[in-house]
Amino acid sequence: MEMIKTKTYDEMSKKGCSLLINKMQHLENPVLGLATGSTPEGLYAELIKKNQQHEVSFQNVSTFNLDEYVGLEKTDPNSYRYYMNQKLFKHIDIDSKNAHVPNGMAGDLQKECRDYEQLIREAKGADVQILGLGLNGHIGFNEPGTPFSSRTHVVELDESTRKANARFFTSINHVPTKAVTMGIETIMESKSIILFVSGEGKAEAVARLMNGDVSEAFPASILQKHEHVTIIGDEAALGKV
Ligand code: F6R
Repeated sequence: MEMIKTKTYDEMSKKGCSLLINKMQHLENPVLGLATGSTPEGLYAELIKKNQQHEVSFQNVSTFNLDEYVGLEKTDPNSYRYYMNQKLFKHIDIDSKNAHVPNGMAGDLQKECRDYEQLIREAKGADVQILGLGLNGHIGFNEPGTPFSSRTHVVELDESTRKANARFFTSINHVPTKAVTMGIETIMESKSIILFVSGEGKAEAVARLMNGDVSEAFPASILQKHEHVTIIGDEAALGKV
């Protein structure tokens, strides 16, 4: 695993953005895996800037988001589709039909999972997967105990994850209990991965991801087995590795 340490969150976002653009420039039709949450917000703001300055185009890019809550409309400000539209898609020149987020409102969620996998397969997997890291080691919404062999599936969210995400909702009771997430095997099939981490609160989790046992009890530990992972983070998050 390659590690890039930056002084600040801002610097992490800018360096991460350059790294991503550099990878995209070597590809004819880049396929990106995208994450939501607080950590990649700065990256998306940078990508918007670079797109508007014509340093990168998304016209030939397809994206696949990692996850979506079950039961939130795409117009709900807490849905990940809404987040992506607001924080990235509506500001860049991507063709909206190429910007995929699982549909957490699908009547048949199992079919939604199968269809999402199929779309990813047809795109030949992500060239670059952007990841954040949950305090309990989750990647996407693959909570501890998720089999490493999992593909896109419906998950029951951990109480700790619901608590961590309650900051975006009026109360924890409004945080959905389920989500659709890409599986760990789906994520591991990405050709390269950039994991973003920021803040002291993540330091313990980053250390365990890099130096702990590879175990389903800590899903992100599987990244030790991937050949092309870059962990980019600020000093606070990388303080314990
Ligand atoms: C979001 C996702 C999650 C987050 C993780 C960290 O699409 O897949 O795994 O990356 O929960 O979230 P933040 O960045 O808010 O700390």
